[in-house]
Amino acid sequence: MVANTTGEGWSSRRAFVLAAVGSAVGLGNMWRFPAEAGANGGGAFVMFYLLCVLLIGLPVLLSEVLIGRHGQSNAPESVRRVAAESGKSTRWAFLADIGVLGAFLVLSFYCVVGGWVLYYIGVFLSDIFTSGLIGGAFEGRDPAEVEALLPNLFGNGALMLGLHVAFLAITLYFVARGVSGGIEWVATWLMPAFFILFVAITIYGSFTGGFEEAVSYLFTVNFSALTGPVMLAAVGQAFFSLSLGVAGMMTYGAYVGRDVNLAGTSGIIAGADSAVALLAGLCIFPIVFAAGLEANAGPGLMFQSLPRAFQDIPFGSVIGLLFFVMVFFAALTSSISLLEAPTAWFKDRFRMPRPIATGIVSGGALVLGGFAAWFWGQPVPVLSDIALFDGQDTFSILDTLTSRILMPVGAILTSLFVGWVASRRLIDSENGLSGGLHHFWLFLVRWACPLALIVILIVGIFPSIIGE
Ligand code: TRP
Repeated sequence: MVANTTGEGWSSRRAFVLAAVGSAVGLGNMWRFPAEAGANGGGAFVMFYLLCVLLIGLPVLLSEVLIGRHGQSNAPESVRRVAAESGKSTRWAFLADIGVLGAFLVLSFYCVVGGWVLYYIGVFLSDIFTSGLIGGAFEGRDPAEVEALLPNLFGNGALMLGLHVAFLAITLYFVARGVSGGIEWVATWLMPAFFILFVAITIYGSFTGGFEEAVSYLFTVNFSALTGPVMLAAVGQAFFSLSLGVAGMMTYGAYVGRDVNLAGTSGIIAGADSAVALLAGLCIFPIVFAAGLEANAGPGLMFQSLPRAFQDIPFGSVIGLLFFVMVFFAALTSSISLLEAPTAWFKDRFRMPRPIATGIVSGGALVLGGFAAWFWGQPVPVLSDIALFDGQDTFSILDTLTSRILMPVGAILTSLFVGWVASRRLIDSENGLSGGLHHFWLFLVRWACPLALIVILIVGIFPSIIGE
C-alpha cells in the first residue's frame, strides 16, 4: 500500500464529501448553469446536461478521485505512482501536470467573478440603509440604473482589480491553513449555511408568481432545440460544474481515507452538484420571470436581471444580500479547491511550507487574474487573432482555453489512463464497484468517455463544424 506523503488528510468521510461538494458547487451552478440553460433554450439543454453528468462526468469523477486516493500525493505524483505500480511509463504524470496548470488558470479568472459577488454583497448591504428593510431593493431607482451596475463595474478597472485581490486573499487565507485546519473548516461551516440559505430563498422565490413558468421552462424538452452548439455547451457545463479535468478532484482524493467507498461517494457528489444546479434554476428564474424579464440574459442573468427583479419583491434588499452571501459561500469553497491543486504540487515539488507555496501560487493568480480584471473587454494582442480566441479579452481567453482544451484533454487522458493503462487489480481494489455496474463503468471509461470527449475537443477547437 502506498504511504500518504502529503502529511494531511480529511478528518472524516463527511468532511471529504462536504469539501468535494463544496468544490463542485460554485459559480458554475449558481451563475453559469442558469445563464447557459437560459441562453440555450431551457429544457433540451438541461436534459442533455444531466445525461452528460451521468455518463461522462460521473465515471471521470470516480477515476480522478481513485487516482488521488491510490497515489496519496499531489496530482502528478499520484498519477506517477499509479503508473509505476502498474508497470507503465511514469510519463503519464503529464496528464496531471496539464491539470495543475488548468486549475491555476481557472483560479485566475474565477476569482475575478468572485470579486463581482463581493461587490454585489456591498451593493445590497448599502441598499438596506437607503431602501429600508421591507420594500423592494433600490427603491425609486430606474431599473436601467440597476442593470447598469455591472457594465459600470466592468468599466472600473481599479475596482475590478481590488475586488479580485480581495476574493483571492480570502481564498489564500484558508488554503494556507491546511487541509483539516482550513479547507475542511470552511466546508463544514459554509456548505450547510449555503444549503439553508439556498433552500430558504428558493422557497421564498416560489411565491413570487413565476414558479410554474420556471418549471416548464427548465423541464419541457423540445428535442428540436438540441443542436450541436447546445450539446457542446451542456458537456462543457457538466465538466466545469463537477470540477473535472484539472486535477482538483485528484488532489482532494489524496486526502481520503482507505475506508471510504469511492463509487458511492462520487455518486453523492455528482448528485448534489446537479441538484444544486437545477435548484439554482428554480431559485433564479421564478424571480426573474415574475418581474417580466427574459431567461436568455446570459452572464447578465444573475448580476443584472436578478438584482433588477429584486426591485419588485418584498424585502428585496435583504433577499438580495442573502442571495449574494450564499453565492459567495459556494464560490469560496470552489476557489479553495482550485488553489489547493497547484499548492499541493508546489509544496511537494519544491519542498516548501504550505503557506509559502500557497502565497506563490496566489501571486501568480493575482497577476494573471489582475490582467483579466484590468484589461476587461480589451482583445489580447496576437492571441485574439487566433480563430479559437477570436477577438477575446484575457478573461474569455482563459475561459476558452481551459473549458475547450485543457479540461477535455485532461479528462480524455484520465479516462484512458484508468481504463487502459492502470493495472486492473489496482483499479478493482479502489473503485468500490462490483458486478454489472463495475463493467458498465469500465465500458464508459474505456470507450464512451474518451470517444465522446475527443469529439467534444475537436468541436470545441473548430466550432464551425457544428455551425457555431
Ligand atoms: N465546479 C466549480 C463551480 O461549479 C468550479 C471549480 C472548482 C472548478 N474547481 C474546479 C472548475 C476545477 C473546473 C475545475 O463553480
